[in-house]
Amino acid sequence: MTVPAPAQGVFISFEGVDGVGKTTQLQRLSRTLDRLGYRVVVTREPGATPLGAALRELLLDPERAISDRTEALLYAADRADHVETVIRPALHQGSVVLTDRYIDSSVAYQGAGRGLGAAVRRLSAWATDGLIPQVTILLDADPAALAERLRVARGTLDRMESERLDFHRRVRAEFLSLARAEPTRFVVLDALTDEETLARQISSAVAPYLPGGFPFGGGGLR
Ligand code: TYD
Repeated sequence: MTVPAPAQGVFISFEGVDGVGKTTQLQRLSRTLDRLGYRVVVTREPGATPLGAALRELLLDPERAISDRTEALLYAADRADHVETVIRPALHQGSVVLTDRYIDSSVAYQGAGRGLGAAVRRLSAWATDGLIPQVTILLDADPAALAERLRVARGTLDRMESERLDFHRRVRAEFLSLARAEPTRFVVLDALTDEETLARQISSAVAPYLPGGFPFGGGGLR
């Protein structure tokens, strides 16, 4: 009987309300790690797999009405496929996996935003067979400060982005409460800090988790 190899890689998630700049920072970290010679896999939820891309279209279509429980199940289905076909295989190969959103997004958006509560975490834990990131970078900002930025950047808003401000405030509050409950996994950073400084803060936060410790000398990552 073959026993699956233990995960060797490093699993890092980026979280935050819509418009905090996760994607920009994730790309920057990916380039930095790439330059340092790490094998990096950049991925996201929802929509990283072919099945996920179809689910993402359903989930974000502003014309489509979706019940809260259905929404939670569709995000969980996307996550199950993502973990099974992308994240676990990459970790087994020793990659550093950077995901734009993961379980905490479901707990914050469906659990707190939609008011579905603790069942959402159990659903996601089942969908992923318990896979949790080693580090979660939470980029935090008041959704009111981001709303205008989002509108200007996007032109139109998707189904989730069009939710009211109080929905996004509940989501933000839940992210912060998750971070307080798990202070060793979460690193909370002010999303309104300038891009360069934030990139340095993120690099320093993830450095201790990388194989080889601090292979980049006293100055740390850039
Ligand atoms: P995201 O890809 O971050 O948005 P964008 O590409 O527009 O920056 O996420 C899409 C939306 O899905 C976002 O509003 C958050 C929401 N979401 C949930 O509600 N639950 C979840 O589990 C996930 C992963 C995302």
